[in-house]
Amino acid sequence: MRLINVNDIQEGMILARPVYSKNGNKLLQEGATLKEGYVPKIKQLGYSSVYIQDKLLQDVEVNDLITEELRRESINHMKETFRSVKAKTTVSAVQVLELKGIVDKLLEDIISNKNLIVDMVDIKMYDEYTFHHCVNVAVLSIIVGLSMGFNQESLYKIGLGALLHDIGKVNVSNELINKKGKLTDEEFEVVKEHTKQGYDKLKENNEIPSTSKIIALQHHERVNGEGYPEGKNDDEIHIYSKIVAVADVFDAMTSDRPYRKGYVPSEVMEYILGGAGSFFDRKVVGHFFKKVAVFPIGTEVTLNDNRVGLVIENFEKFTLRPKLRIIRENDKNIDPYDLDLRENNNKTLTIVKTNKNEQDTV
Ligand SMILES: [Fe+2]
Repeated sequence: MRLINVNDIQEGMILARPVYSKNGNKLLQEGATLKEGYVPKIKQLGYSSVYIQDKLLQDVEVNDLITEELRRESINHMKETFRSVKAKTTVSAVQVLELKGIVDKLLEDIISNKNLIVDMVDIKMYDEYTFHHCVNVAVLSIIVGLSMGFNQESLYKIGLGALLHDIGKVNVSNELINKKGKLTDEEFEVVKEHTKQGYDKLKENNEIPSTSKIIALQHHERVNGEGYPEGKNDDEIHIYSKIVAVADVFDAMTSDRPYRKGYVPSEVMEYILGGAGSFFDRKVVGHFFKKVAVFPIGTEVTLNDNRVGLVIENFEKFTLRPKLRIIRENDKNIDPYDLDLRENNNKTLTIVKTNKNEQDTV
């Protein structure tokens, strides 16, 4: 399957992942053939890209770390939580209980998944960005925590804190969250407040572990002291907050937003690696890099010898050396063949770029 921009959708293409309505109902099944009238409808729903089947990748399987149903269920719970916190100002006991159920299910899915690598780009509808984002940050944070050797109880605290990390955003208007262009200093001050306000909404609740609450407060702190709200230094920032900080940046930067196109994972990974030790905790970044694909399956890449291939498999700890299906040589289409970048005789080959031609048109 391949990720393509909605503007490039053509009649006859086959969906590789379902399309959902805004209230979470499945509108188009996986395997559905796209008809002409579907394209404007998909755009209208706020999708910027979709996964379609590709005959070059028919034999390639990509598994999400959690089931589609659980992702949907989690998003719906987050939506409900945001709605009621906005109305009542704090998180109710019932909601915490429900969110705990979600974290348990996320842990179960992630721990039982053998292919523990993040290999898909999450497609978010603009209106639902925040809820998707919270769920994705939770999944990414749990994976990194697992890689770092945290036990189930710690993973649970990380997961719950990650789901709730942006709950303070209920106080920030949608216009500000989706604003095109740079925020003014005053606007940025308002956005920054979501950390303290999020913590305030959680702090009275005895059902939420204190380290989960700390995540809401500290996820924008940076190890060099340049973060917010308190400008804390490295050893003053809780390790759970450091994990969520990296997951948050990765998911936010790879997402399409109304004001900009998402960056490809390889670009974001470069940014995160560049920030290791200054913005982000080095150890966390190391684990993140082992577990999250730099080039997710279906990505088209160019090698240093100018061959072009599609990523067909990723390997834990070798996220820069995927297996490729070479489709072009010397600017000519060829009979595809597979090439494993981990093999010794391919050592001098490197991926020089991710080809974004199909996603550039937003
Ligand atoms: Fe945040």
